[in-house]
Amino acid sequence: MTVPTSSLYIRQARILMPDNSFLVGDIQIHDRQITQIAPELPPAENPTDREIDATGLTLLPGVIDPQVHFREPGLEHKEDLFTASCACAKGGVTSFLEMPNTKPLTTVQSALNDKLDRAAKKSLVNYGFFIGATAENLPDLLDAHPTPGIKIFMGSMHGALLVDQEAALERIFANGKRLIAVHAEDQARIRQRREQFAGITDPAIHSQIQDNQAALQATQLALRLSKHYQRRLHILHLSTAEEAELLRQDKPAWVTAEVTPQHLLLNTSAYEKIGTLAQMNPPLRSPHDNEVLWQALLDGVIDFIATDHAPHTLEEKAQLYPNSPSGMPGVETSLPLLLTQAMQGRCSIAQVAHWMSTAVTKAYGIPNKGVITPGYDADLVLVDLATYRPVLREELQTKCGWSPFEGWNLTGYPVVTIVGGQVVYEHGKLNTQVRGQALTFETVSFEA
Ligand code: DOR
Repeated sequence: MTVPTSSLYIRQARILMPDNSFLVGDIQIHDRQITQIAPELPPAENPTDREIDATGLTLLPGVIDPQVHFREPGLEHKEDLFTASCACAKGGVTSFLEMPNTKPLTTVQSALNDKLDRAAKKSLVNYGFFIGATAENLPDLLDAHPTPGIKIFMGSMHGALLVDQEAALERIFANGKRLIAVHAEDQARIRQRREQFAGITDPAIHSQIQDNQAALQATQLALRLSKHYQRRLHILHLSTAEEAELLRQDKPAWVTAEVTPQHLLLNTSAYEKIGTLAQMNPPLRSPHDNEVLWQALLDGVIDFIATDHAPHTLEEKAQLYPNSPSGMPGVETSLPLLLTQAMQGRCSIAQVAHWMSTAVTKAYGIPNKGVITPGYDADLVLVDLATYRPVLREELQTKCGWSPFEGWNLTGYPVVTIVGGQVVYEHGKLNTQVRGQALTFETVSFEA
């Protein structure tokens, strides 16, 4: 006799349906997947079934964060795959795509395999890893598997991962079909302005050194190469009004772009309040840039949201600019930040779910995720949209132990996070036994 495996029932949640309507009802999860959704499902039959009373809570597809830096291997004093994935689970992030600037760099298949092995052992949520471009590793880029794509740092990077020469960029764009994701900042301009502003230790100068023009020039170049070679391009963390306007005028179907919560919600005024904690690449911009980026997101010019979670220790951040490293954590705050904006009328809850989950699956060809419907993976988050509370340093899971949003009064915090049908976070407690799975990526065809 075969013993039936258990089901998980979530009862009376306000469920975001695929047509963006809400259904107050029950959902059954069995064998990693969503099996049934109805206003009222019959009582559980199996004594090992579990039930969660979700009255008053809203059920959304789990967040898929498409740009994070989780520091393992080699930089584990800042973060590691276990602590980062704990932070994800707490933040409602059920899958992440991680960047190649670890030690060693993820520029060859063996380094990619090593990360996949480490994540299989340590990550509470699902994972995928970019392969990093250098000026010389084209064969590695062509063969790497599985990966969401090739990451190119066109600027604001040093060492082998900096690819700032047009000939090298051209070689990568001309060969292969895989998605190219660019950090678009013009290194020559940054270099020249670093010299111009040398000796200034006020971190606010960071936004002037790596200015809007530096970002625009690199985005223009990436767009030109992508159009010339009809190459699938994704522009990471778009930060300026000028880039948003450029894409509004000229965005081929095979180009996508993302924005971070911090580029939507923080601006250069943050340096006065939190100093180098506000320092990141590309830098924070003006309130005008915030507004234009929001509008571009609402209009679909920007496709989705990524946190660029880039933790550094407080000790590292305490160094005087420019020795202070760039980057800020984000996976624990992104969903409540955006849901708070939705509750304040800036966008809808359905738009938040689209930008933080559904649209990411479409752009990267991640099958069976991003929508709450029978047959899809049960990667889900139950959020509480009725209460507000501040972001508190002592509650954070990230190893770096700080957030640029400390003290912000937010709603929409996750109450329960589910990965592959397993409860990984519930009412403030992590289930550290849960493990995520490696994501798969299908080729996405875009109309030319
Ligand atoms: O501010 C940043 N920090 N931007 C990046 O793109 C890289 C990141 C890091 O890894 O610290």
